[in-house]
Amino acid sequence: MAELSHRALRELIESFGGCDEYFTEMISAGPLLGGGPFEAYYIDAGPCPGRVVYQLVGARSDQLRAAAAFLDKRDCAGIDINMGCSAPAITRTGAGVRWMASADRAAALMEQIRRVVTRRLSVKLRIGPEDDFDSLARFCRRLEEAGTDRITLHPRTGREKFKRSARWDYVGRLRRELGIPVAGNGDIADAAGLIRRGKDCDAVMAGRLAVRAPWVFAQARALEEGRPALPDIDLEETALRFLDLLGRYQPPEFRLSRARRFFAYFCDNLQWAHHVKTLLNREGDLAGIAAVWSGYFREHPEERVLRLFSTP
Ligand SMILES: Cc1cc2nc3c(=O)[nH]c(=O)nc-3n(C[C@H](O)[C@H](O)[C@H](O)COP(=O)(O)O)c2cc1C
Repeated sequence: MAELSHRALRELIESFGGCDEYFTEMISAGPLLGGGPFEAYYIDAGPCPGRVVYQLVGARSDQLRAAAAFLDKRDCAGIDINMGCSAPAITRTGAGVRWMASADRAAALMEQIRRVVTRRLSVKLRIGPEDDFDSLARFCRRLEEAGTDRITLHPRTGREKFKRSARWDYVGRLRRELGIPVAGNGDIADAAGLIRRGKDCDAVMAGRLAVRAPWVFAQARALEEGRPALPDIDLEETALRFLDLLGRYQPPEFRLSRARRFFAYFCDNLQWAHHVKTLLNREGDLAGIAAVWSGYFREHPEERVLRLFSTP
């Protein structure tokens, strides 16, 4: 996820026990090939490169192919092509979900990339421009024929952004239509949801939840294995540690925007989430953010510790 799924977040998730696989932020193919000043941060797959999937975004097939060939030589779990992003800044360029407008073009792209990628090659997408399952299935079959190894479906249309609920029944239906694994993504709210949705598909992807609750994967494993509750989570310490990781693994130019993105979701662990977000957004550096964060727990000490499994 843009500005979210970078090394600092992976370090944090790993500190709670990790998850099976991580997707990078979408990496723009053009700037990557141009060797921009920040590309080293985008392609830092630490601390567990073998479990990191590089996600590429772009509108030009020549650039996507060359960028995929470049990343394929790095230690990673696979290469993913973003055909799902519906942010105007991306679709305006012809990238993201705009690829879903033409199965011919998208299949030709994947054929070209398949020739240069030896690792697992996947696509992340939405339902498409319209709510039409048959056309989604036709589109995905073309991607499969073109050599795509896996598909992750976020079952909303491009226009819906985050409106309505994700149509999870489409994930199961798509899985039955294709010969390749299908991962599902969208609106998973807790560890029990991860487990439940995992029954509908070959893999589940959590986006916003992974930021709000970086311990959720460990929690899901414990739930599945019938183990007792995990240790309590110290919310103050967790976010301060994240700020420290940002300082270590992100360039100064990125730290503030990444911190704000993180707190946009992590604050939802607090009773006065909206108030804290407003205060944090007024701060101009990580030290100020840390001071506001700690100040909150001086006023509300009862919120500092989160007891997992204490509520249904
Ligand atoms: C801030 C933000 C950035 C995102 N960036 C990406 C991205 O770079 N690539 C991608 O495939 N999806 C991206 N997404 C979409 C998520 O991967 C996911 O499909 C969506 O949030 C629904 O899943 P969730 O309910 O688990 O969050 C982003 C979502 C958010 C909120």
